[in-house]
Amino acid sequence: MPKEPPATIENRWDLLYRDYPERYDAFAAVPKTPQTIDVLTDRFDFTDKLILDIGSGSGASTLALAESARTVIGLEVEDAMRAIALRSAITEGCMNVAFVPGNALDIPFKDDLFDMVTAITLPLFLPAEIAQFAAEALRVTKAGGAVINVGIAPFWYGGELASVILGAERVTEVDTEGVVQRVLTEQFGFSHFDFFAHQEYGSVDKIVETYGFIFGQKAIDYLKTEAKTRIH
Ligand SMILES: C[S@@+](CC[C@H](N)C(=O)[O-])C[C@H]1O[C@@H](n2cnc3c(N)ncnc32)[C@H](O)[C@@H]1O
Repeated sequence: MPKEPPATIENRWDLLYRDYPERYDAFAAVPKTPQTIDVLTDRFDFTDKLILDIGSGSGASTLALAESARTVIGLEVEDAMRAIALRSAITEGCMNVAFVPGNALDIPFKDDLFDMVTAITLPLFLPAEIAQFAAEALRVTKAGGAVINVGIAPFWYGGELASVILGAERVTEVDTEGVVQRVLTEQFGFSHFDFFAHQEYGSVDKIVETYGFIFGQKAIDYLKTEAKTRIH
């Protein structure tokens, strides 16, 4: 008999990607205001571009980019996530995407191939790994192209509930996102800008089974007590 899923995976994103990809997909599908793709489209022209989307997950970022790009290749390490992405592309009749297995640290493409490389919430946090990803992304990008990394703001893990999830003392100790920003700007000369978004889940049940499932029991208790349906 299939095992009952737990109430939460307590921030074990590795388990989420491997064992509960549908749950990640439901979380990724909750509309953001503004949508990340709209923020990016205001600043970058994806029209007719060949794009490599690294850490393509269940396909949300890849399919959004494919609306204006010529072709988007999603690169993803986790088989279960790629399977969901492919299923969504078929369901949506999206013909200009492909999903390939591979690692951001050793990109399986030749030099100077892509017009753009994107990484939308790619979870790499060790300085050496971030640097390796950046070097690889730049290697496969044509001269004059762009590498775009979208991450969570420093001290904003899980958004406004960061101190509930991590505990008030730990929230400013954990600066993984600040490390990403520093490596990309200081070592590789990336420029950066911030944008602010919120997600509206529509009901307490929906936010508990997606956001709560990922971010843990403390988050679930808070969401229920405060009857929250929106995360900033
Ligand atoms: C937060 S999800 C983002 C998915 C997608 N970009 C989106 O916007 O919904 C991060 C994805 O990156 C993948 N990932 C983690 N480390 C990776 C690596 N080193 N190379 C390629 N993919 C990786 C995970 O398996 C996961 O599917």
